[in-house]
Amino acid sequence: MIELTYFGHSSYLVKVNQKSILFDPFISPNPKASNIDVASIKPDYVLISHGHEDHVADAESITKSNNAMLVSNYEIAVWFAEKGVERYHPMNHGGSKTFDFGRVKYVHAVHSSTLPDGSSGGVAGGFVVKHDQGCFYYAGDTALTYDMKLISEEFKIDFAILPIGDNFTMGIADAIKAADFVGTKKIVGMHYDTFPYIEIDSEVAKKAAKEAGKDLILLNIGESIRL
Ligand code: NI
Ligand code: MN
Repeated sequence: MIELTYFGHSSYLVKVNQKSILFDPFISPNPKASNIDVASIKPDYVLISHGHEDHVADAESITKSNNAMLVSNYEIAVWFAEKGVERYHPMNHGGSKTFDFGRVKYVHAVHSSTLPDGSSGGVAGGFVVKHDQGCFYYAGDTALTYDMKLISEEFKIDFAILPIGDNFTMGIADAIKAADFVGTKKIVGMHYDTFPYIEIDSEVAKKAAKEAGKDLILLNIGESIRL
């Protein structure tokens, strides 16, 4: 069992093997996450899927204040290093690296990745995290892609954290297909309702998932679950 806490938009904190891994922190600029005290989030690792502001906003401050290890693609990791982040680990697509909580593979995403100051954020990606109790997929922002089938060929995915807000990423229909491609019935939703462009009807999405034999898990901001 691992614990998952939602901080709004695409930001999840995953606790596994006594380590806390924070994904794509966009918390202080998100009015919907105003109940979250950013200073109370104390990750050991900060994983960044791509360079967009709505995925990196709090990464520098949280990484520095916790002396956390920032993991992302090469361009993004170096961009943070130039901002004074001391502990960082650059990756690129198809590469895996073992950390003390498990093994991370940086996988393909179909999306753009410009950083907030206009710098190149390389090519957007997602993460597969394999740990001693299982394996999960954090897709980042992405379209549905057949490349996701490679993930089910290599890994047994317990749950997939997938964007469902449509417009900039997959919507629920494609997220259901993505769950099939990666080989899981459990979808944890992200990247929805934060902005008017990505507002969804959660009940409609849950019903669509259920009809497809999937379990769509949508957490309240600040809520934790064990999976
Ligand atoms: Ni994006
Ligand atoms: Mn985004």
